Amino acid sequence: MIELENVSKSYSGGVKAVDTINIEIRDGEVFGFIGPNGAGKTTAIKLITGILTPDSGSIRINGISISDSPIEAKKQFGFVPDSPDMFLRLKGIEYLNFIADIYGVSPAERTERIRSLSERFDILPALGDQIQSYSHGMRQKIVIIGVLLHEPSVWILDEPMTGLDPKSSFTLKEMMREHAGKGKTVFFSTHILEVAEKICDRVAVINKGRIIFVGTLNEMRDHFRENESLEKMFLEMTEDE
Ligand SMILES: Nc1ncnc2c1ncn2[C@@H]1O[C@H](COP(=O)(O)OP(=O)(O)OP(=O)(O)O)[C@@H](O)[C@H]1O
Ligand SMILES: [Mg+2]
Repeated sequence: MIELENVSKSYSGGVKAVDTINIEIRDGEVFGFIGPNGAGKTTAIKLITGILTPDSGSIRINGISISDSPIEAKKQFGFVPDSPDMFLRLKGIEYLNFIADIYGVSPAERTERIRSLSERFDILPALGDQIQSYSHGMRQKIVIIGVLLHEPSVWILDEPMTGLDPKSSFTLKEMMREHAGKGKTVFFSTHILEVAEKICDRVAVINKGRIIFVGTLNEMRDHFRENESLEKMFLEMTEDE
């Protein structure tokens, strides 16, 4: 569960990237965060994950405040950032062991999880190579596997399908549904409506830092005009007022 209460954040230039956001992402749901480029998705995610500090408002993950108890709160979630370019000099397997060390995953558990996740994402043969030799999609996969190693209850993913081939994208979506099916929480951002349509229980639409809709996709369809493609609705929702 993720709770945001009256969360705001401005950058030094004066841009109010996140403006008084209230959202509750419940256990057992895949929750999509939809909005056009520059809407404030990544900023909101950086606030939730403790990378940025809000100017005002409070954020709790599984009831734990990210500002009051950052380490405890961070143990609750796994985070896939929008850019997977990190630890490029490490080999895939070294990176995964490093992450497993940080989260205290036992050798027996990590061996099994690394093997099964790497097989599922078709990256097992590349684990012995340096991450800098990987394609964007392969880097994305290694980060996703690293995040899942400690089996966090809350998944937070920023544009996770970007760069994934159709098979891996399908696999990830399947895993997101499975995770929510176990009563856990999945929160991800996208500007691709088809992705949201396929897997989300509920969505929030953000534009210019403000939440302009929260609900199911059906409610979104009802709420906005009927018999129009979601994309058109979306354009309508996010165009200048
Ligand atoms: N470090 C920064 N300094 C100043 N302004 C920033 C910074 N990062 C983001 N912004 C601004 O904040 C707003 C929200 O940006 P953000 O990256 O959160 O959007 P986004 O919804 O993730 O967009 P995208 O779909 O392109 O990833 C934009 O106007 C952006 O220009
Ligand atoms: Mg972004």
